[in-house]
Amino acid sequence: MFTVLVANPKGGAGKTTVATNLAAYLAGKRQRVVILDMDRQRSAARWLGRRPRGFPEVRGALPDTDPKIIRDYAPQWLIVDAPAGLHGHALAEMVKVADAVLVPVATSSFDFEATADFVSELTALKPVKDGKRALAIVGSKVDGRTIAASDLDAFLAPLSLDVLTHIRDSQLYVHAARDGLSIFDQPRSRAEDAWGDWPPILHWLQTAVAAKSHRP
Ligand SMILES: Nc1ncnc2c1ncn2[C@@H]1O[C@H](COP(=O)(O)OP(=O)(O)O)[C@@H](O)[C@H]1O
Ligand SMILES: [Mg+2]
Repeated sequence: MFTVLVANPKGGAGKTTVATNLAAYLAGKRQRVVILDMDRQRSAARWLGRRPRGFPEVRGALPDTDPKIIRDYAPQWLIVDAPAGLHGHALAEMVKVADAVLVPVATSSFDFEATADFVSELTALKPVKDGKRALAIVGSKVDGRTIAASDLDAFLAPLSLDVLTHIRDSQLYVHAARDGLSIFDQPRSRAEDAWGDWPPILHWLQTAVAAKSHRP
């Protein structure tokens, strides 16, 4: 099982959107996927509750779900939708059990401020510092060719981090979320442009999975 922690302390950064879309994408590739909703608002669990029959199956778990239920399903992927405000001991514990950490960052100054301390804390954690956890930042609700995207690059440069990809601001995500779907559950004709933002995330994951399999 490969565990992806989707985290940012700021509410509204795009965690649940990234987590649910990633989960549905992997499910569409015939993978067994569990989404673990750690946020008390239960947005991911509610999304799952709205998911119509006939679409690739994603299973849900909550913090109090019996781990045996997850183990018995033997998922290839566990996607963890982290709560807002995650830091300190709770963050360290979650990073310990994750294989990769994906940090969506929206592009307002408020988001940068909230994310800066988080990223510093994250990169100071031993497994991340030692290169044993894949870490990636994705721009959230931003077009890669805009000033907002350059602002994000400038914000990350002193932290020696790059932006893996920019996930555009699109009503497709809003409508999909409302319907328990992802952009990957939509017809190509409607969603192809938005799909184009995701290959860097999927390649990054492939690399991280390969790195994990080579680790002693
Ligand atoms: N790429 C996007 N395009 C348009 N709306 C988005 C996008 N990503 C997130 N949103 C919207 O922004 C809001 C916050 O996103 P959400 O994923 O719930 O953030 P978080 O889980 O970090 O609080 C939601 O209303 C969501 O539908
Ligand atoms: Mg959320």
